[in-house]
Amino acid sequence: MRCNPKQVERLKWFHEARFGMFIHWGLYTLLQRGEWAMYVERIPTEEYARLADQFKPRRFDPDAWAGLAVEAGMKYVVMTTRHHDGYCLYDSQVSDFTSVKTAARKDFIGEYVKAARKAGLKVGFYYSLLDWRFPGYWEPKKCKDSAEEMVCQYHAQVKELLTQYGHIDVLWYDGHWMHSAPDMNLAEFWRSKEINSWARKTQPHIIINNRCGLDEDLDTPEQHVVASAAGRGWESCMTVGDQCGWGYIHHNPNMKTVTQLLQHLSTAASGDGNFLLNIGPKPDGSVRVEEQRRMLAMGQWMKTHGASIYGCGRARLSGGMLGVWTAKGSKGYLHIFRWPGEEAVIPCVKTRAVSARLLTTGSKVRIRHESNGRLILCGLPKDPPNPHTSVIEVEFDGVPESIPEKDRAAWLQGKAQ
Ligand code: GLC
Repeated sequence: MRCNPKQVERLKWFHEARFGMFIHWGLYTLLQRGEWAMYVERIPTEEYARLADQFKPRRFDPDAWAGLAVEAGMKYVVMTTRHHDGYCLYDSQVSDFTSVKTAARKDFIGEYVKAARKAGLKVGFYYSLLDWRFPGYWEPKKCKDSAEEMVCQYHAQVKELLTQYGHIDVLWYDGHWMHSAPDMNLAEFWRSKEINSWARKTQPHIIINNRCGLDEDLDTPEQHVVASAAGRGWESCMTVGDQCGWGYIHHNPNMKTVTQLLQHLSTAASGDGNFLLNIGPKPDGSVRVEEQRRMLAMGQWMKTHGASIYGCGRARLSGGMLGVWTAKGSKGYLHIFRWPGEEAVIPCVKTRAVSARLLTTGSKVRIRHESNGRLILCGLPKDPPNPHTSVIEVEFDGVPESIPEKDRAAWLQGKAQ
């Protein structure tokens, strides 16, 4: 994958960061059945719009959200400025369906931006291109004018968002797909090239994701962690609870464990990717305790193990059954998901290991070298020193690499090379 130097430059902080917070919060939150409730239940536009009369969150505290992100070890936040239901959490001149013009009488986005910046976080805007309220979304051929109006709204609102709040770090598009037009050229329909080049002129540093019909800077695997080709930026986004609940769901029993979430984070970093973990605050604005606890526990782990995540990326080493490797320069970090007991064996290591220590405890780890490039990390405690993921930091005498094994059978004689 060829990268252009400007793109490499603007993705620098992003790759260093590795871990961010996604926030889904809007009118749908009131219903407590996820952000898709309007469509899933086919709630007519006018009826849905009346929800705005009740949206007056008493505990909206963006400093608390930002504080939680910092505590979790996250370096950036991405918040929904407007989801598929069309309700803007800021003051839009091209829509009356906004938090400023209805009962809340508040620019939530303005306050969110201030809080995030104050906390030292990079700031991202989630924006849904599609808006369910337009007949033209559902029937683009039949309702051409309405479809065009929706596209104009998209352009106008992106312009508002990128001119009213100063420096914005990430433009996180979503909802570029069309309900009933599978063969449509999406980038053309949305005229994404036009608005994105405007965005890049206005905010040259901005990172834009691929949910606009164009590749732009980032791939966005959702609810799973899968690396893109080397050189391509990517970020996996995930909910703590059920798949379909980005917005608050009252009964949300399938919460991932801290161990699972941390392993996703390690796996993302091991493939040069980021992990964007979602919270769906409650209708009053507070964060549910299950999400808070997990974020705080992840932050505890990050305090000791951050060196193996921030700024780390792909290692050309095998984690085998143990887990995954991340690397930074001549340091390799073995993230052990399945603790092996007193010795950990890494096969086919070409680069010489010089020293090792348990990042988890700081204690020294002895090294032995055996045939087939096996690197044996020995004298480890019987039980994992961290209940989630323990990490061993290995210093190599160069950028670590595996032996290529051109002769695939040579290892049988102990001669892998
Ligand atoms: C999806 C959903 C949406 C959610 C998003 C997060 O595309 O439509 O509800 O906001 O993914 O990645």
